Amino acid sequence: MKEMFTLLLILGLATSLGAWPAFDEFNVFDYGASGVGRTDDSKAFKYAWRNACNAETHSAKVIVPEEGTFLLKPLMFHGPCKPQFIHFIISGTIVASGSPKTWDGLDSSQWIAFKNVTGLNMYGSGLLEGHGIHWWNQSCRYHPDREDCTKLAPTVLKFISCNGGTLSNIYIVNSPQTHVLISDSKGFNVDNVMIQSPQDSPNTDGIHIHSSHIIKITNSIIGSGDDCISIGDYSSNIDISNIECGPGHGISIGSLGKDGRIVLVENVHIRDSTFKGTTNGARIKTWQVGRGNIRHVIFENLVFDSVDNPIIIDQNYCDVRGACKEKKSGVKISDVTYKNIYGTSSSSVAITLNCSRSVPCSGISMENINLASVTPGKFLLANCINVQGTEVGVNPGSCLN
Ligand SMILES: *[C@@H]1O[C@H](CO)[C@@H](O)[C@H](O)[C@H]1NC(C)=O
Ligand SMILES: *[C@@H]1O[C@H](CO)[C@@H](O)[C@H](O)[C@H]1NC(C)=O
Ligand SMILES: *[C@@H]1O[C@H](CO)[C@@H](O)[C@H](O)[C@H]1NC(C)=O
Repeated sequence: MKEMFTLLLILGLATSLGAWPAFDEFNVFDYGASGVGRTDDSKAFKYAWRNACNAETHSAKVIVPEEGTFLLKPLMFHGPCKPQFIHFIISGTIVASGSPKTWDGLDSSQWIAFKNVTGLNMYGSGLLEGHGIHWWNQSCRYHPDREDCTKLAPTVLKFISCNGGTLSNIYIVNSPQTHVLISDSKGFNVDNVMIQSPQDSPNTDGIHIHSSHIIKITNSIIGSGDDCISIGDYSSNIDISNIECGPGHGISIGSLGKDGRIVLVENVHIRDSTFKGTTNGARIKTWQVGRGNIRHVIFENLVFDSVDNPIIIDQNYCDVRGACKEKKSGVKISDVTYKNIYGTSSSSVAITLNCSRSVPCSGISMENINLASVTPGKFLLANCINVQGTEVGVNPGSCLN
């Protein structure tokens, strides 16, 4: 007992004097990472993670140092972990292999994924480079005629079943597909991230939320070839604020209800954000074959700069024009508020609420909306079909009264 105490005392002293590596820090260089960006450093990350995840400490740190560029193959970091908190600190650069061949025989939907890890905090002013160009060049979106075109390309960062996590101060570029996915998680905050991919890169959503609850996304700059942020089936209590979106497809709830799924998306607050040159702004889109509900949604304090469809609900969403006939089903959309929305539209219809005849939209409220055309002097239209609701101070009007 006494020897044990002495040993602990010595170890403690050594640690506090910096003579000993701290027991809670797992630096990928200590696990053999080269950090030169050309040789595969996956093993080092795997071992650093394994030790961090099994550390007998309250919190553990995986450290990706600033002076390195680390080439990683597809990697899954699994929990549950022993520490209550794991800090994954990326100060350096992590790059994907540019070649889709790297994924042969592997799950091509993911590059770096975390699964079942509670209390995960990723931050550190580092960069994740997805090198998506080869994937984009063979995507079915742009090459539907190619037999070997790809529908599914890797997501840079997946957080699956990661409760109580955070992602902050990270820069993510050129994802082969979605940049960040949060799924099956409860309580996850994203703050101060920057996401950038070219405007013409296919399906490169910035952040996609799926089957998740109590999610906060704040203070971020997102520009890509698809939705800046999209919200999928079965999500609730989502708070999105202070986002600079563009280029891209805007912030979307949907598309929901594909293949007849029963969906539930509720309590979504999208506020204090700007959209620049995006194809949509505040968007809700659902498939006619879907069922279930979208309800209690607030779009508030938004500024649009040259946006094609600033406010849009498309309850008849179809990815092939004219291919979906009118149906008697639909996802019910109710209690949606649009409030304090300003700026310019680049198309002549600034407000489109296209709801279904059989499942009309209800409880829609519009207040203090002022949209003008980017072309001075040009009049704008509002177009609402099968919608029940009220509007006060809406230009262009009148849609709901
Ligand atoms: C996820 O972690 C919890 C503990 O946090 C554990 O009980 C559960 O079995 C894990 N699930 C999977 C699929 O690993
Ligand atoms: C991708 O495609 C574009 C145009 O189709 C072409 O100019 C470019 O060289 C291709 N890039 C790569 C890396 O294959
Ligand atoms: C509404 O949706 C239907 C079905 O997709 C379409 O035919 C119609 O043109 C749309 N109306 C407007 C005004 O966009």
